[in-house]
Amino acid sequence: MCGIVGYVGHRPCRDLLIAGLEKLEYRGYDSAGISLLQDGHIDSVRAVGNLANLRAAVGLDGDNGDGGVAIVAPPATIGLAHTRWATHGRVTEENAHPHGDCDGQIQIVLNGIVENHAELRRELQAEGHSFSSETDAEIVAHLIERHDKGDLTEAVRAAFAELRGHYAFAAMHADHPDTLVAARQECPLIVGLGEGETFVASAIPAFLAQTRQVLLVENGEIVTVHASGAELTEAGGAPVSRESEEVTWDEDAAEKGGFPTFMLKEIHEQPDAVAETIADRLPAMDRVDLSALELSDELIAGMRRIVIVACGTSYHAGLVGRYAIEQWARVPVEMDIASEYRYRDPVVGPDDLVIGITQSGETADTLAAMRLARERGATVMALTNVIGSQATRDADTVLFTRAGLEIGVPATKTFTSQVAAMYLLGLWLAQARGTLPREEIAALIAELKGIPSKISTTIEAVDTRVRAIARSHAEARFFLYLGRNIGLPVCLEGALKMKEISYIPSDAYAAGEMKHGPIALLDESTPVVCVATESPILDKVLSNVAEVRARGADVIAIATEGSERVAEVADQILYVPPTDWILQPILAVVPLQLLAYHVARLQGLNVDQPRNLAKTVTVE
Ligand code: AGP
Repeated sequence: MCGIVGYVGHRPCRDLLIAGLEKLEYRGYDSAGISLLQDGHIDSVRAVGNLANLRAAVGLDGDNGDGGVAIVAPPATIGLAHTRWATHGRVTEENAHPHGDCDGQIQIVLNGIVENHAELRRELQAEGHSFSSETDAEIVAHLIERHDKGDLTEAVRAAFAELRGHYAFAAMHADHPDTLVAARQECPLIVGLGEGETFVASAIPAFLAQTRQVLLVENGEIVTVHASGAELTEAGGAPVSRESEEVTWDEDAAEKGGFPTFMLKEIHEQPDAVAETIADRLPAMDRVDLSALELSDELIAGMRRIVIVACGTSYHAGLVGRYAIEQWARVPVEMDIASEYRYRDPVVGPDDLVIGITQSGETADTLAAMRLARERGATVMALTNVIGSQATRDADTVLFTRAGLEIGVPATKTFTSQVAAMYLLGLWLAQARGTLPREEIAALIAELKGIPSKISTTIEAVDTRVRAIARSHAEARFFLYLGRNIGLPVCLEGALKMKEISYIPSDAYAAGEMKHGPIALLDESTPVVCVATESPILDKVLSNVAEVRARGADVIAIATEGSERVAEVADQILYVPPTDWILQPILAVVPLQLLAYHVARLQGLNVDQPRNLAKTVTVE
């Protein structure tokens, strides 16, 4: 998740663009860049690291360094800027945006992922285009160059038609000093309309200090931006008329994208996070591509088992992954809490694949467990959200989630992205080991590709009901979560969220275990949250739920749309869209995130920074 911002108007825009990037830094900050057009000449400066390095490079803090922009920057009144969260290509200056075409006359900044970048790059290289970065994004500049016949909007339209993926980009051309053209495919893009100036950006905070008049750009649309305003057109060229709107957010709300907290914003970012995490790893409707992991065929075919080590929410994502990998790839998966694993002198060796799941990539216990396994000869994979983190250095290979920066301490979008990555791994291993027929893999890939929009549907469908349920249980002294099989990790995650942000004691239990003790905890005042989505053992879950209902507990069930039987044993039901039963957890967790969130908010608690908790636990 990167941040893009563009400006065309009457004011010198170097500082405006850098200020815009500072408001987008929450989207990603491993490198940044700016391109300014003045008198037909484009100057670009890019820098690795956070924005302070770019500021220094453009001489904003008095030190001109050797950045060219410092010379012409002030007068330029059109430009593009970008802050990066690397997905394709290492964190280097060459891979930082803006990217240019062969002679740099066309500049682009992009947020998201171009899925068909490899084949387009081959085509363009065959036509003589020379590339200067490893990124998928640079493709766009060369495609616009390929179609450039003097009309920037039409060149962008032709390029847009060739792209596949999940992205938004903006383009500038040295021959068109009064025009920027941008396009949107899934990823956010917004226009800011000022007096004699216009902004285009990934999010409103980038220009909110300059104008509160915004024009929404919908999916599949192209917008041509001038100082005097913006014209929207459909991908096919038909004009689109849309009223602009006034934004009333204050500074704090702006940083949170209009949401009251980072946690709620990040819950709403889950569709994007999952979409970007799976995007180019599903290059075809029946194929998963994780070849970037460079795991040897011997290991894939001969691995004795997979061991997953992690802490907290990441551990719960691993638990979901275990079901998927065992079910699809028939590889035994052992789970362990990292802080326990390292002290139990584990039996692990060369035939084992050890996966350390850690969104921050800096959790001490998980790192230590990974190092121990590596010392004992196992192949170690890190599943992390942070490029350049310690985990990426302590592992033999890395599978990245692409959730963007997660600021709220309670992990939400990184959890669903980790689960999505686990599904990719399970399918890829099944594909490589031939344990699932191609049609079944194709069917599961189709379901997985549908998950981002189903998460959006779930949030919209359940939020109001969850608020009502939260109101009726905000005073509860204890929450119990029940589930079985792949529903149990979802319960563990729901209970952890409730504990960490509402401070209400909460426990998650395998429903079949209830009668062996925990059922004694129940009385009329106990809200019992049951994950009862469609699965081969739903009957079992429902009979366990009936047991607790019989003790007067108030049952809140998470069920699959269309599943009637749950109504017999539950007082309140929150429905999630149907999908393959192994994929249901990535949807079923959403109502649980929202329940914990609304219960905590009703108590006026700071959900983004709960007491006693840190986002990254770097101590053992
Ligand atoms: C989850 O909401 C918590 N922030 C915490 O349990 C977290 O999952 C745990 O500390 C692991 O963090 P990691 O994924 O960065 O390793």
